[in-house]
This record gives sequence, structure tokens and C-alpha cells, in this order.
Amino acid sequence: MFSRITGIGSFLPGQAVSNHELARRGIATSDEWITSRTGIGFRHLAENGETSSDLGLEASRRALSAAGLEASDIDLIIVATSTPDYIFPSTACLLQSKLSNHGATAFDVQAVCSGFVYALTIADKFIHSGSHKRALVVGSEVFSRILDWSDRATCVLFGDGAGAVVLEASDRPGILATSLHADGAHHGILSVPGSVCNGKVIGDPFLRMDGQAVFKFAVRVLAEVGEECCAAAGIPSAGIDWLIPHQANMRILEATARKMKVPMDKVIVTVDRHGNTSAASIPLALDEAVRERRIRAGQKVLLAGVGGGFTWGAVLFEL
Ligand code: ACO
Repeated sequence: MFSRITGIGSFLPGQAVSNHELARRGIATSDEWITSRTGIGFRHLAENGETSSDLGLEASRRALSAAGLEASDIDLIIVATSTPDYIFPSTACLLQSKLSNHGATAFDVQAVCSGFVYALTIADKFIHSGSHKRALVVGSEVFSRILDWSDRATCVLFGDGAGAVVLEASDRPGILATSLHADGAHHGILSVPGSVCNGKVIGDPFLRMDGQAVFKFAVRVLAEVGEECCAAAGIPSAGIDWLIPHQANMRILEATARKMKVPMDKVIVTVDRHGNTSAASIPLALDEAVRERRIRAGQKVLLAGVGGGFTWGAVLFEL
């Protein structure tokens, strides 16, 4: 029993917000600084009250439509998010309710920017085991809610959005190999180190990051896990058609591609227009590239994610 991606969808809230617009809103930054250091030109920001389950709902509807399925056909819903609607119930259960699906297994995965790769791997294993047949795997984030808008070193980097895929049981392989890792020893270089206790926020409710430490770590593990996943499938990295790394920063994408000896014209890039949308970044990039008919049926695609925890992982699949 194998699993294949049979439908992809994504959703970006509101209008694109430019770097110039952020500067106009009073952030002490410039388009020149942001584009030269990160490659980011625009990001989308959710409206007040718009939640991860709302963005995930739009992406899910589009993925279900692309797969030719109804929500009631789905027996597994996994949402990767670090910006859940509530502490509980899970965003997956809220999304399930909005989709009017009753009875499917539903839960969230928390692996920050690697979340989608983690969720897709888990769904693949459920399907592989024979216990489930049709999974909806979603990455959805409203990172704008956990940004300290007075910290220019972090607030310019992120955006909101959602991406989703339908993964179905199949007798021929779609997903070829997966690799997941984490090392909690590095929890301090990227975190939102706060919690809610007795009605109060304890600690710090905003994203904090040691940018240079994250940069070095991300480049090393993205390339390593990408190579590991290709080796597990018995395919050299030169044999992949497309690489979709987590869209954190243009310089991280370029350095990863260089380390893996993958030319940049095989790398899908959306960070310039989406910013870093954490768990949503990979399915957003995948959906855009498929809709633009750059990625086509039969091609081999390597997804590689890295995020807070630290977590990292890769999925190699044939579309
Ligand atoms: N606009 C203008 N100036 C800024 C801004 C800004 N938005 N942010 C910081 N600066 C200033 C700093 O204050 C500092 O000024 P100073 O020298 O007068 O003190 C100067 O720019 C350099 O700051 P650094 O933090 O040293 O800048 P650095 O060269 O490290 O670049 C960056 C920062 C772009 C964040 C870089 O470290 C990076 O790309 N890191 C990767 C982090 C990343 O992509 N994280 C995403 C989340 S992690 C993930 O998704 C896995």
C-alpha cells in the first residue's frame, strides 16, 4: 500500500503588503535592507479575527476540489500549525467542523516550520499501515499574531497563509521516502517562550530568534536531510526534478541548493512574495508551482523543512 498526492490547494489572506508599506507603517526598516538580506519583498497578513482554521479551510476546499473529493470522503485530517486558534480543541478539529466532516481522525502537529513535512510523513505512515485511505494534510499559520512589531529583526520576515494536500492510498508509489529529525538542545535559538497560566501570559508571547545561529543551522540540516531522503529512495539529488525547501529566506534557499548541487532553476521560490509562512510555506510553494504547470505529473519533488525545536525533515515524492 502506497500513498499519492491527488489534490493540492492554498490560500493567502488579504492583499500583499510590501516592504515599503511596513516602513510607512512605522517599522524602522527599508526595502533595501529586507530584500538584500532576505529576498523578501511582500507578505500577506490575516485580518483581525481570521484564524489558522479559516485559512486552512480555504486551502482545504481547493485541495479537495483538485482531488475531486468531498470533505466527507476524508478519514484523516492533520493540521501543522504553531499558531492554533485555541489552546484546545485542536485546529484540526475546528477545521473538521468547518468542513462538516464527522468522524475522521483529526489532530494537530507542532513542529513549527517543519510542520508540513512532519504531517505529510505521519499521513503517509497511516496510509501505509492500511488504517486510513484518504488524508487531508494542511499547513496553516497566522504568524503575524506572534510577532513583536517593535522588533524589526523578526517582524519583517514572516507572513500568513495556508496550503493543503489530499493524500490517498494507491497501489503505485507517490511518496518515495521520508526523513524526520529533531534536536531539542537548540530550542533557545528560535522560540515563543511564553505560556498561559491562571489567566495570565507567563514569559514572552512573541517570536524570538538568534538570526545568525538559525541561518547556519538551517543551511546545514536542510542539505543533510535532503541528501538523506534521496539516498533512502535510491535516487541521487541530481535525479530530482524540483526542490522545495522551507521558504525562510532567499539566502538560505540558495545556500541549501548550492550544498546539494541543485541548480536554482530547479528550486521553487515564493519567499519573495509570501515571506516566511512557517508550516504553510512548503504547500503554498507546491501549489503555486503545480498551478503554474512548472511541476508536472510524473516528476520527482523533494520537500525539505526546518524549524523551531529544532526540527527538520524531508519528503521525496513523485506527483
Ligand atoms: N531593517 C533595517 N535594519 C535592521 C533590520 C530591519 N528589518 N533588522 C535588523 N536590522 C539591523 C540591526 O539592528 C543591526 O544594526 P546594528 O548593526 O546597527 O546593530 C543590523 O541590521 C544587522 O543585524 P543582524 O541581526 O546582525 O543582521 P544579520 O546580518 O544577521 O541578518 C537576518 C538578520 C536577515 C535575520 C539573518 O540573520 C537571517 O537571515 N537569519 C535567518 C533567520 C531566518 O530566516 N529565520 C526565519 C525563521 S527560522 C526558520 O524558518 C527555520
